[in-house]
Amino acid sequence: MKTSVARSPLVALVLCLSLSFGFASRDVEEVGWRRVEGRVEWGKGHSGNTGRPYYFGEESFREWSRTPLGHFKLLERFDDELLRGSVGDYRVTYLEMAPRAFLQPSHFDADEVLYVKEGEGVLVLLRKGRRESLCVREGDVMVIPAGSIVYFANTHRSKWLRVVMLLNYASFEEFFPVGGEGPDSYLSAFSDDVLQAAFNSRRDELERVFERQSKGEIWQASEEQIQELSRSCSRGGGGSGSKEEEINPTSLPGQKPRYSNNHGRMHMITGDECRHLRDLDMEVGIANITCGSMMAPRYTTRATTIAVVVEGRGYFEMACPHKSDSGRSERREHGSEEQQMMKSRGYKQVTAQIKEGSVIVLPAGYPATFVTGNEGNLAVVCFGVGSGNDEEVFLAGGNNLLKQLDAPARAIVFGGQGREAADRVIGAQTDSVFLPGPQQQSRGGVSDMWS
Ligand SMILES: *[C@@H]1O[C@H](CO)[C@@H](O)[C@H](O)[C@H]1NC(C)=O
Repeated sequence: MKTSVARSPLVALVLCLSLSFGFASRDVEEVGWRRVEGRVEWGKGHSGNTGRPYYFGEESFREWSRTPLGHFKLLERFDDELLRGSVGDYRVTYLEMAPRAFLQPSHFDADEVLYVKEGEGVLVLLRKGRRESLCVREGDVMVIPAGSIVYFANTHRSKWLRVVMLLNYASFEEFFPVGGEGPDSYLSAFSDDVLQAAFNSRRDELERVFERQSKGEIWQASEEQIQELSRSCSRGGGGSGSKEEEINPTSLPGQKPRYSNNHGRMHMITGDECRHLRDLDMEVGIANITCGSMMAPRYTTRATTIAVVVEGRGYFEMACPHKSDSGRSERREHGSEEQQMMKSRGYKQVTAQIKEGSVIVLPAGYPATFVTGNEGNLAVVCFGVGSGNDEEVFLAGGNNLLKQLDAPARAIVFGGQGREAADRVIGAQTDSVFLPGPQQQSRGGVSDMWS
């Protein structure tokens, strides 16, 4: 098929059309999605590409709180049965704070892994009996252990501070010591007698201090207050505890790239660099794919990836084992367990257009790829969940794992004649990890061969 496609553009076109039409008519009925038309075109013709249940767009977020000084957006739970087992305990949230906004002290009953998407700030942690005041900036990754009391200020005069957070408890709650009308102080839930005894203070005083601050969850601070807060902040390392225990913001793009070429770069922070990530069995990476390029199709061996688009546009494609409903009813009617297994060995394409703010879940073992649009780089922050001993396996390009097929196996798998073609195809892409995208591919080798 490959040969005829390459030989005649017209045949290729007809073939593509009929193939996609075939897919479309079948899949629309079954699962409500179809192949992408006009892949890098925006605004029309892709309403059916829902990427379900692996893709989450704006409509999957809800505002948890919204004031002129900031927003807190929460992604719905990963509730689909295909996701619940691997990432069901995690929630993605976006925090956005206006210039000089101050997020008042609170603690979560969940660990948070944080990526600073834009802006700069001071983040103060109260834990283990002391205070750590940390300067954070664009590109930083940080872990905030569950239960730490945190306050946070945007220290910039004019830029918003935007943060992506991953929480590792799906029904997490936030607790405020100081409150008023929304949020309440948790102290208001205790009886007067208990509070007066505990604080050795009068009830009316306690109320005034803790329960009548009605400025809301995010306050505006003055220029001087912000300056004073920033004065004491550091990049960590000033504490008296052991080095490993310390919480440090770490610049993700500041890490030596794991992969880098003209088509993109990948930076990672793993458990080796950050003990707190290791404790959470997580790693964080960023793939910054150059405009017009793509990532080689790849899968992870153990980690499920929660990918958050932080810059640009493009699309993703993923191969998902396909178990159609019709297959299921057939199975009920006849056949042994093995026959049933055979019948379900198809793959469907899951795809969606993605842009800043989109979230995609890539299960361990599922081959997937990201492709940029035409307008700029596509940058994706990847939280690898369950990443202990994880490995990333590439399925095309210079470090393609299929290259490891040994000669006798190649002869068996591809047959005597097919072997040469297979060798050529497996070796044809010489770039690794980040590749020229579909619009950029010259296919020099291919056209030379048949012209
Ligand atoms: C991606 O790379 C471009 C070019 O180097 C850079 O300008 C941009 O800030 C990077 N994006 C992120 C999110 O790191």
